[in-house]
Amino acid sequence: MSPAGDEVRVVNTEQRHYAQIAVLCRTTYPETAPWAPEQLDSHRHVFPEGQFVAVQGADEHVVGMCASLVVNWEDYKMLDSWETFTADGMFTCHDRKGRTLYGAEVMVDPRVQHQGVGDKLYAARRELTERLKLLRIRAGARLRDYHRYAATHGPAEYVVDVANGTLHDPTLSFQMREGFHVIAVVPHYLTDDPESMGYAAVIEWLNPEMVRPEHVKERPTAFLRRELRTESGKTQTSAAKGSS
Ligand SMILES: CC(C)(COP(=O)(O)OP(=O)(O)OC[C@H]1O[C@@H](n2cnc3c(N)ncnc32)[C@H](O)[C@@H]1OP(=O)(O)O)[C@@H](O)C(=O)NCCC(=O)NCCS
Repeated sequence: MSPAGDEVRVVNTEQRHYAQIAVLCRTTYPETAPWAPEQLDSHRHVFPEGQFVAVQGADEHVVGMCASLVVNWEDYKMLDSWETFTADGMFTCHDRKGRTLYGAEVMVDPRVQHQGVGDKLYAARRELTERLKLLRIRAGARLRDYHRYAATHGPAEYVVDVANGTLHDPTLSFQMREGFHVIAVVPHYLTDDPESMGYAAVIEWLNPEMVRPEHVKERPTAFLRRELRTESGKTQTSAAKGSS
C-alpha cells in the first residue's frame, strides 16, 4: 500500500486497474466473488465515463471504486433487484437517454475508510451527473447494520431512526451525509447479504441544476432527515451537497 498521506484522486477506471479492483473486492467482501474482467470491460464499453477508481501514489494504488450506469427509471419498478437494474452486473441495460445515474457499486478499502475517500467518489458521481445534465442519482443502499436491530425494528422503522440520527448505519448514514434522501425501503434487493438481510433503502440525490419542485414534493416525508420534514420548501437546496 502507498504511504498514508499520499493524496487520493479519482480517475476513470482503465484495464490496468482490474487486478487491484479484484484485490479491493476480496478485502471488502471476502465472501463474494470479485468483479470479473468481463464485467469491468462491459461497464467501460457501455459507459466509460461512469466508472471510477480512487487511487493513491504514483503507482496508482487502488483504494476505492464505484461503478454506475444510466437508466430510464420508468422502465423499472421500485422493488426491482440489483440484478435487474444492472443486467446481472453487466450494465448492458445502460440507456443514455435516461435521466437517472444508477449507482451500482461503491467500495473503499476498509483500511482507509473514514478518511474521505468515499466522499471523493461520490463527488465524482455528482459532477458526472451535473455534466451529463441528468436529473438525479439513485441507488439501492443496503442496510448494512440492519441485522443488529432486526429483532426490535422493522426495516422502515430502522431507516427512520437512521434518518433521525437516532441510529447510525455505516453505509446509509454516510450516504445521507452525502446529500441523499431515502425514497423507499425494499426487500430482496441483494441476495446473500446477511448484514442487510436483503433490505435496502432506495436513495436519491437530485441535481440542483435540473430539479423542479414536483421532484422534491414526490418524496415520502417519513424518511427525510428530521430537520427537513417540516421544511419541504427547503428540501431542494438542503439535498444538494456540493452545489452551494
Ligand atoms: C460506504 C463506504 C463506501 C464509505 O467510504 P468511506 O471512504 O469510509 O467514506 P468517507 O470517509 O467519505 O465517510 C465515512 C465516514 O467517515 C467520516 N470521515 C470522513 N473523513 C474523516 C476524517 N478525516 N476523520 C474522521 N472521520 C471522517 C465521514 O464523516 C463519514 O461519517 P458518517 O458515516 O457518520 O457519515 C465504505 O464504508 C465501504 O466501502 N463500505 C463497504 C461497502 C459498502 O457497503 N458499500 C455500499 C453499498 S450500498
